[in-house]
Amino acid sequence: MAQPAQNMIFPVVDEHTQDSVRVLDVRHWTDRLFSFEVERPASFRFRSGEFVMIGLLDQNGRPLLRAYSIASPFWEEKLQFYSIKVANGPLTSRLQHIKPGDHIIMRQKPTGTLVLDALLPAKRCYLVATGTGVAPFASLIRDPELYERFDQVILAHSCREVAELGYSMALSEQIKSDPLIAEMAAEKLVYYPTTTRESFSRMGRVTNLIESGALFDDLDLPHWSAEADRVMICGSMNMNLDMKQLCQEAGLVEGANSAPGHFVVEKAFVG
Ligand code: A2P
Repeated sequence: MAQPAQNMIFPVVDEHTQDSVRVLDVRHWTDRLFSFEVERPASFRFRSGEFVMIGLLDQNGRPLLRAYSIASPFWEEKLQFYSIKVANGPLTSRLQHIKPGDHIIMRQKPTGTLVLDALLPAKRCYLVATGTGVAPFASLIRDPELYERFDQVILAHSCREVAELGYSMALSEQIKSDPLIAEMAAEKLVYYPTTTRESFSRMGRVTNLIESGALFDDLDLPHWSAEADRVMICGSMNMNLDMKQLCQEAGLVEGANSAPGHFVVEKAFVG
């Protein structure tokens, strides 16, 4: 059988394409999720938690770009991204087929609200994610500044199935032997994974577990207060809205780079 027409329709990104970066590694976690690493341009700087626009060329040779959180900490030499595969998604239906040695486009203008500067000082920081929304937190939990700013960090991650927690589970293990942050993380980081559609040690949507108080009971922590707690949120549109409401009900005020507050929200990329 002939190859699908797909390869012939879309111009290939190569080293001559503007803002192209070389793919170094690709890992498929499940049939719906994959992560990949690209080389870091020498002059590229970003703050942990920020996103960049990445993508491929469309059939007219124009860049087809989406916002992707950088999953690497600011000091890492390679840049990692974590993505869903959407069968009919204009970008991810093709991006999921990239291989080491291929090139993709990465615009070098990082931005985003999930940055430490957007939060006022406090005792604890909750990083709350669903699905690929954990990517910016993969960056932040490897940034020593997070542990300098907070006494305790809680990474709560909800996925449909156990295998979809693989990425954050691997990360929480890997951190234990990371010379830069292992000690701080061992003292301050709590990983709180949950599933919603497959049996697991802890089940339920993270929003429901917060609302019912189960999460606080499990961790033996007080309910949120504006004085002690900060929250960073990254998930689907609906999850973000539900989380935002929970934060506001607890008296937390949304922050931004220009006006730091008690919680910040960013939509995880889908498509
Ligand atoms: P559920 O299985 O109950 O839909 P997805 O893979 O679709 O992006 O979902 C990732 C996780 O986010 C799933 O566990 C899903 O739970 C959960 N989720 C979806 N919508 C919300 C929401 N509004 N609040 C909290 N969690 C949500």
